[in-house]
Amino acid sequence: MNPRAIHTAFPSTRDLFPCESLASLPTPVTPLDVAQFPGSLASLHLKRDDQTASPFGGNKLRKLEFILGEALQEKRRALITFGFAGSNHCVATARLGREVGLHTTSLLLPQAPTPYVAQNLTMGLEAGATLVHRQSTVGLAAALGKAWVSGLIRDKVPPKVIPAGGSSLLGMIGYVNAGLELAAQVAAGMLPCPDLIYVALGSGGTAAGLQAGLALANMEAEVVPVRVVAQRYMSAQKLRKTQAALASFLGARGLPLPADGGGLCDRVRGEFFGPGYGESTEGSRAAASLVHDQAGVHLDAAYTSKAFAALLEDAHGGALADRHVMFWHTYGGPEQASKMTEIEAAAGVDLAGIPRALRVYFEPR
Ligand SMILES: Cc1ncc(COP(=O)(O)O)c(C=O)c1O
Repeated sequence: MNPRAIHTAFPSTRDLFPCESLASLPTPVTPLDVAQFPGSLASLHLKRDDQTASPFGGNKLRKLEFILGEALQEKRRALITFGFAGSNHCVATARLGREVGLHTTSLLLPQAPTPYVAQNLTMGLEAGATLVHRQSTVGLAAALGKAWVSGLIRDKVPPKVIPAGGSSLLGMIGYVNAGLELAAQVAAGMLPCPDLIYVALGSGGTAAGLQAGLALANMEAEVVPVRVVAQRYMSAQKLRKTQAALASFLGARGLPLPADGGGLCDRVRGEFFGPGYGESTEGSRAAASLVHDQAGVHLDAAYTSKAFAALLEDAHGGALADRHVMFWHTYGGPEQASKMTEIEAAAGVDLAGIPRALRVYFEPR
């Protein structure tokens, strides 16, 4: 495994934050031709976290490297995690958990039944995960208690509970590491220091960890978090709490951060969320097709195309003129996700093997 940037920059963190090598790091940076984009940008780069692994990468691998590193050190046998039905995080946890010998139970909430949901559910089942679907967070809490107790009885050791999106303190270390990794790439002359970095905002660990890593590297770059979940799940206020928790976690381990958190929470953008989680908007469809045409890169409907729509709108409005801009590409689902139709999702899947509550996501529409 390549040494992780955080371990190189702060050798004491090798023992504090053990890492299970799951991702292929550092991820590349790809320059885009600014002439093909509006707004007279000085430069535009993609940070390719879609390539943390093949064929299924994305941002979750960075978090899970540290979460699973700890789980293995603690001799856990199973994992419990949460998400919406089509959660990328739940799929990544099931797949990577299985890779290191840990069983995953995913506790899922309803979402609009778009085609990628069926694909992610299928991948979770293929990875051997137990999928539990409940209508509300109250139902989920009860399911958590049940899964935890039965895991304890079965394995004689409690399952490790991973919060939604993998945004535990250790999960965020994966993105602190990512910020330091980018700083090393800038220092090596691979790209100019970005002024602004656009990224999708779900559970907040990616944006908070990244801004913290940049601060530890003394980089001025400002992360622009673009909210893609409903406000009751994430807001500037919630992100502030997440940032504060991370700052005190790092501070207690000899890695102090500036008190203002880099102004991250003041830059949260909520206007690109659209009708609902996972549902595309006119702006997100335009963003996805522009990036596909110009760079051959696939943005997903739930996260990255909405975040790129924010970048494009700011570019159109002139706010990015002469700025060095980066888009942090966090979606690493297989390419065919974009091509899959509802009918293909249903075909080849034995509905009898799908928990009854989840079959709704496989019905042709
Ligand atoms: C593709 C993708 N991008 C971005 C995010 C958001 O990351 P975070 O939950 O750390 O805010 C997620 C979270 O599930 C994701 O799946």
